[in-house]
Amino acid sequence: MIPVKVRAGPRGYDVLIEPGLLANFGDIVKKRLRGLHCAIISDSNVAPLFSERVKRSLTSTGFQPMLVTIPAGEQSKTLEQASAICDQMIAAGLDRRSFVVGLGGGVIGDISGFVGAVYHRGIPHVQIPTTLLAMVDSSIGGKTGVNTRAGKNLIGAIHHPALVIDDVDVLKTLPRREFNQGFAEIIKHAIIADAEMFVALKNVDLEDLAPLIRRNIEIKSKIVAKDERDRTGERVLLNFGHTVGHAIERAGNYREFLHGEAISLGIVAACSVSMKKAGLPRDQRDGIVDLLQRFDLPARLPPNFQREKIFQALPYDKKFESGKIRFVVTPRIGSAHLSSEVAIEDIREAVDQL
Ligand SMILES: NC(=O)c1ccc[n+]([C@@H]2O[C@H](COP(=O)([O-])OP(=O)(O)OC[C@H]3O[C@@H](n4cnc5c(N)ncnc54)[C@H](O)[C@@H]3O)[C@@H](O)[C@H]2O)c1
Ligand SMILES: [Zn+2]
Repeated sequence: MIPVKVRAGPRGYDVLIEPGLLANFGDIVKKRLRGLHCAIISDSNVAPLFSERVKRSLTSTGFQPMLVTIPAGEQSKTLEQASAICDQMIAAGLDRRSFVVGLGGGVIGDISGFVGAVYHRGIPHVQIPTTLLAMVDSSIGGKTGVNTRAGKNLIGAIHHPALVIDDVDVLKTLPRREFNQGFAEIIKHAIIADAEMFVALKNVDLEDLAPLIRRNIEIKSKIVAKDERDRTGERVLLNFGHTVGHAIERAGNYREFLHGEAISLGIVAACSVSMKKAGLPRDQRDGIVDLLQRFDLPARLPPNFQREKIFQALPYDKKFESGKIRFVVTPRIGSAHLSSEVAIEDIREAVDQL
């Protein structure tokens, strides 16, 4: 198996993608990291499924792992929880030569990465993403963090992993809705950067996801490498569908839609805006909607949904840019750019059509 080499910082890191990797986890880590002690950070759904396997593999190769389990769900992604994890690691005697292993979806990846960034001013972070979304999106790019009452991901750090292990077998236990939402980010990647993958997605082999996951990691990591800290505008392309998507998530109080479902709706809205402002052909927009629906992702809001709440949640400030907001559009599948020609009325119109 050839790892994907992600360029980041002075050395970069490897992403390994293959079924059954967890059984060899200890050996794989041993080739790359020195410390003996580590904390496996997982959640209450994932730990019972996979933590024994990971622990056994680490122990049999000479590591001394401890397990920290936090309640599953976004509400665990807090500074308090990160602090409680650190306390347990301190009590177990982990020091600056230790490392953390994040075993779980994006919530675990974000909080374990944050702990890795701050524990003893930074220790290595190994990620074992267990959701499709975490494999193709959140485990790549180095963004870590926690939520506060005022909003999501407001406290965090850039801390790239030392290694990412994608054992595609773990996806077998993932609930269908969680699995499908990963395809919203995959379809987003296809729209902004890979027309060929867009076509291939129509006949994707769900029994052999490794090549698709690999391709998505390449797309995201290439974009991130050009613009690690969101400065040159390259990384902003990954926000395609997210301006309206985030507003829909917020309008549904983060309960009504999973992230990927809200992004699916956001993509549909971004396609309407792109037709008007960037010349996206209608048949391509229809092709995108069709592909989203193949993965049971929503293309329309529920009939009774209060659209007004979405408008209120849009990141809009009159003081800036005279009513124009920075919005990512696609002129055709496989390409995207930031437009400053989009006005709040264009977005309102697109949301009205959802
Ligand atoms: N850092 C980034 O760049 C980045 C990017 C995108 C999203 N995120 C973050 O990722 C989070 C969302 O990630 P997510 O969708 O993976 O959510 P999640 O981590 O909450 O996982 C979803 C659910 O699936 C369960 N689960 C995970 N793996 C499983 C498995 N293999 N079998 C059975 N159940 C399993 C979890 O316990 C949870 O209940 C958000 O907090 C978001 O902010 C971060
Ligand atoms: Zn997203």
